[in-house]
Amino acid sequence: MGCITVTIGIVCLFTLLWSVNGIGVNWGTQTSHPLPPDTVVRMLRENGIQKVKLFDADYGILKALGKTGIEVMVGIPNDMLASVGGSMKAAEKWVAKNVSEHISSNNVNIRYVAVGNEPFLETYNGSYLHITLPALSNIQSALIKAGIGSQVKVTVPLNADVYASSNTYPSGGDFRTDIFDPMLKIVKFLNDSNSPFTVNIYPFISLYTDSNFPVEYAFFDGNATPLNDGGTLYYNMFDANLDTLAHALQKNGFGNLPIIVGEIGWPTDGDRNANIEYARRFNQGFMSHISGGKGTPMRPIPIDAYLFSLIDEDEKSIDPGNFERHWGIFYFDGQVKYPLNLGTTNSGALIPAKGVQYLERKWCVMKLSAPLDDPQVAQSVSYACGRADCTSLGYGTSCGNLDARGNISYAFNSYFQKNNQLEDACKFPNVSVITKTDPTPTVGNCKFPIMIQPYYESAGRRFGCGQMPLPLVSVLLLLLLTVVQL
Ligand SMILES: *[C@@H]1O[C@H](CO)[C@@H](O)[C@H](O)[C@H]1NC(C)=O
Ligand SMILES: *[C@@H]1O[C@H](CO)[C@@H](O)[C@H](O)[C@H]1NC(C)=O
Ligand SMILES: *[C@@H]1O[C@H](CO)[C@@H](O)[C@H](O)[C@H]1NC(C)=O
Ligand SMILES: *[C@@H]1O[C@H](CO)[C@@H](O)[C@H](O)[C@H]1NC(C)=O
Ligand SMILES: *[C@@H]1O[C@H](CO)[C@@H](O)[C@H](O)[C@H]1NC(C)=O
Repeated sequence: MGCITVTIGIVCLFTLLWSVNGIGVNWGTQTSHPLPPDTVVRMLRENGIQKVKLFDADYGILKALGKTGIEVMVGIPNDMLASVGGSMKAAEKWVAKNVSEHISSNNVNIRYVAVGNEPFLETYNGSYLHITLPALSNIQSALIKAGIGSQVKVTVPLNADVYASSNTYPSGGDFRTDIFDPMLKIVKFLNDSNSPFTVNIYPFISLYTDSNFPVEYAFFDGNATPLNDGGTLYYNMFDANLDTLAHALQKNGFGNLPIIVGEIGWPTDGDRNANIEYARRFNQGFMSHISGGKGTPMRPIPIDAYLFSLIDEDEKSIDPGNFERHWGIFYFDGQVKYPLNLGTTNSGALIPAKGVQYLERKWCVMKLSAPLDDPQVAQSVSYACGRADCTSLGYGTSCGNLDARGNISYAFNSYFQKNNQLEDACKFPNVSVITKTDPTPTVGNCKFPIMIQPYYESAGRRFGCGQMPLPLVSVLLLLLLTVVQL
């Protein structure tokens, strides 16, 4: 065994050990121009991110994650719950194709299957209420049958409103009365199968939906008036929310059920409270808050969490709000939005995606000669915004200070870029023109982006720590212990 192998081995070993409590990220793909999976995986590795959560089981993404050692949570979308919950055969097929095959043929470190995504959201009207447990149970049986039941666990990422407090204090926490029985069955199932409870916690949404919500309480820097729960002080909403769940679990006999925070984060655009400053304050505050591993008053243990999210997604539904397309800690093209120290890189800085290919530097803007009151304008803007992305326009957003012409140009350009700068995509009758002069204003955060090249799958291979055979890991562990003892 060469010296270099040992050194790399020890570095890898540290990475493996460290990964147990490292921060995870959600990698969503509702985007018109995804970055190539290899580019994203390289970015994950360079940023020391050791855990990813996916919303489906995309073949190309799982392939790119192979042999990297990165822990993966794959997802079953809600619209597949009925099929895998209704048929054991379908569940077995799903596991064979989307889990077993990736583990055995490509060494993807799949650790969890997320069965559904927030299936009990009130907007679904209970459609998934009675199919989630059968789906969970079938997938769990299929995993066991495939011989990977101890390595891969099932869970259900739930929205935090499946529980509530009867008296605003965490100690009053319990499951929502209208879904109490199904929730209890799911919790019992998770407990019996040694699986974690996964919850998504969003102080931003509280602030967005309740204008009386105390802003400071959403953050972690201690400026909020604490909530006094019978002598236990809560300085931020995250702790209080997690402990409301911990109390709900304890009250029902599951005080030791592990909790994963499946999504946590803050968007950077699309609302007056969604901006770079707040997002940085929240995410950095969260990282510092969990870095000591002290947990919450009810759960004083390290917190296992996945940031939402890695990259902006320009095709997410904006029904919940325009902020939906701006959750990334990176922009759509893998560029850094703001300084964020995840505690995982030497420099403490985020590292952007490398080798990103852009389209030409040209934009579609409103013709100078076109009058603002041209009847084509309003129609064209609404056409462009409906098909592209105008969520950075409007009160309190990054491009909220554009004048009327700037607004119109923004809409045209968004449509043009999304359509890969096709000439035909800048033919709003008599009112638009293609320009090589960057229309981005010189002051403020407003950007007129240039789209990235559309991605076509190509073959690529990489290797990493995950490729090391287990015996080698054990030998290295022994070696390391010996060194430590000396
Ligand atoms: C595997 O997952 C993909 C992506 O979610 C899905 O489209 C496909 O139907 C799944 N395969 C099986 C056999 O269920
Ligand atoms: C839920 O119910 C509302 C009102 O009855 C309806 O408008 C909506 O489409 C329903 N949503 C789903 C997902 O079924
Ligand atoms: C939860 O699981 C633990 C360990 O498997 C078991 O001892 C306990 O009885 C379970 N709790 C309930 C309420 O079923
Ligand atoms: C720009 O567009 C936004 C959203 O479409 C609108 O709310 C705003 O009033 C517009 N501003 C001007 C100056 O036209
Ligand atoms: C474009 O402008 C020309 C000349 O001003 C005019 O004749 C024509 O009708 C306009 N086309 C549209 C679609 O508005």
